[in-house]
Amino acid sequence: MNNENVFTMNNVSKSFPSPNRDKPLKVLENISIKIDEGEIIALIGPSGCGKSTILSIAAGFEKPDKGNILFNGKPVTEPSSKRGVVFQSAVLFPWFTVKQNIAYGLKLKELDCSLINEKCEEYISLVGLEGFEDYYPDQLSGGMQQRVSIARVLIMEPKMLLMDEPFASLDAQTRISMQQLLLSISMQLNPSILFITHDVDEALILADRIYVMSRLPGRIRQEISVPFSKPRSISLLGNHLFSELKRSILQLLFDHNNS
Ligand SMILES: Nc1ncnc2c1ncn2[C@@H]1O[C@H](COP(=O)(O)OP(=O)(O)OP(=O)(O)O)[C@@H](O)[C@H]1O
Ligand SMILES: [Mg+2]
Repeated sequence: MNNENVFTMNNVSKSFPSPNRDKPLKVLENISIKIDEGEIIALIGPSGCGKSTILSIAAGFEKPDKGNILFNGKPVTEPSSKRGVVFQSAVLFPWFTVKQNIAYGLKLKELDCSLINEKCEEYISLVGLEGFEDYYPDQLSGGMQQRVSIARVLIMEPKMLLMDEPFASLDAQTRISMQQLLLSISMQLNPSILFITHDVDEALILADRIYVMSRLPGRIRQEISVPFSKPRSISLLGNHLFSELKRSILQLLFDHNNS
């Protein structure tokens, strides 16, 4: 793997005004994260520990109180289509078809129609939605909607994907096939991926490294390298080292002295 650094977050802290206290609520404390080209990084931690806040700061939606964020060596000051964001629920225009939703970003860039059509076909095929180009979002299953969300981000050729529990609302079987889809996208397109999840199995199947967070104020408690080679499949679930890593991550997450 190429080790070019794509993204770093250095000593980031963040507080939010609190509606029922005089003092702001400290949400993040000294968060440092780095992501190299093509790496998949999972961020796992208790509910409310600040994972989505980290993603918002990485995307450029929120500003940190302290610390700095570099993307391709330049400070992050605003959102960019080079850092594509995928949320837990598909964010689609209900009045657009699959193809129109996927084409939207390129249309805004006023690219040539035949190029847009060509790219749409490529990304519709990448996420396995051939034959559904003319469907509207409410005519699709949850997994298919999420595949449209992923395709409409990927078509912008982001260098980085920021994914906030993108498969959390899917059934177990669809979730596994979406994980395999993401692994194959990662191998084909090589984006750097920051992937938030609550699911330890999912983190171990997808990630090259896992950052485990503490409870509020969120801190990076431990960084774990995941040693399994790729391509990976769910057969890893029966692997002894997989079970060992899962046990130690769960222990970190449920350790009540972890704040
Ligand atoms: N805009 C905001 N204003 C005030 N407080 C906020 C804001 N955004 C987040 N918070 C607070 O920051 C803390 C962390 O929220 P965040 O959404 O980052 O957690 P999370 O780790 O993503 O949780 P979950 O796993 O449940 O999605 C919470 O206490 C939340 O109330
Ligand atoms: Mg969240």
